[in-house]
Amino acid sequence: MYIDSSNPGVVRGDAPAKINLFLEVRNRRPDGYHEINSLFQAVSLTDRVSVSNSSGRGVRCTVIGDGNLSAGDDNLVVRACRLMLDEFRPDGGVDVVLEKHIPVATGLGGGSSEAAAGIEACNVLFGLGLTQQQRMQLGLRLGSDVPFFFTRGQALIRGRGEVMEETAYPTDYQLVLVNPGFPVSTPAAYAALKRGLTVPGEPFTLPCCRTVEEYVFHLGHAENDFEPVHRRTLPELGEIAAELLRRGAALARLSGSGPTVFGLFTDRSAAQTLVEAGWGHWRIFAAAPLPLPVEAT
Ligand code: C5P
Repeated sequence: MYIDSSNPGVVRGDAPAKINLFLEVRNRRPDGYHEINSLFQAVSLTDRVSVSNSSGRGVRCTVIGDGNLSAGDDNLVVRACRLMLDEFRPDGGVDVVLEKHIPVATGLGGGSSEAAAGIEACNVLFGLGLTQQQRMQLGLRLGSDVPFFFTRGQALIRGRGEVMEETAYPTDYQLVLVNPGFPVSTPAAYAALKRGLTVPGEPFTLPCCRTVEEYVFHLGHAENDFEPVHRRTLPELGEIAAELLRRGAALARLSGSGPTVFGLFTDRSAAQTLVEAGWGHWRIFAAAPLPLPVEAT
């Protein structure tokens, strides 16, 4: 997030998407959430957020781009800015412009990332100097995936999303993100897993990997637990994964609760060729792992 040099009343920044390199959903918790064990990676497909002080009260939001997203109360960047106003500037107001590129409700964490960007933008705009921990705690009030977006961009996530360990696995690969064009409801996907309250055995642990080949090999021993659930009702997702592998991906996997499927390519040109050629009626994006800036802690 940075203050616009030509207009110091405006803070701008990127809100990147994420993928889950593996995602284990362990048990349901008494609070209704699920314990997860997942490796999150920020990627270069990004929304853009700008926040400025306004003379009115509350949050006024304009969404540019993906037409399906409302600029109202269900928009996470609006909720994030409202939370920041309630906490720190109860009589204040902000204008938000959200430029959407990440498809909505697709397992790429776009809404969560925008929420984190809204918190960070207000932190900078209001000169609050909140620590990383404080920003993560505010983020968790808006959604389980929000705290991740205050890390350096790669982390093992546990709990419902708040327990994190930053990691340094290889990032020298290319991604192809394939979105079949329909949204998946996260609560419905979790409910379909029918997990009990009993804590299962040991969680999957990914060993240290020095090369991307080792990384792919070890990731191959994990999976995304939502895949078997969707296999029954959304067979298209399995077809996308199989096709990505046929076209040269070293790994193809669902991200989050879906429906985006990513292909991890160690051969950049294979990924590039695929994206340039397009792919039937599916929306397809090129992306790469992205380090996130970590601002003052
Ligand atoms: O935290 P967030 O608002 O993103 O979660 C949306 C829904 O997804 C929750 O209400 C819950 O049904 C489900 N969820 C879950 N366990 C998690 C994260 C989300 O059950 N760790």
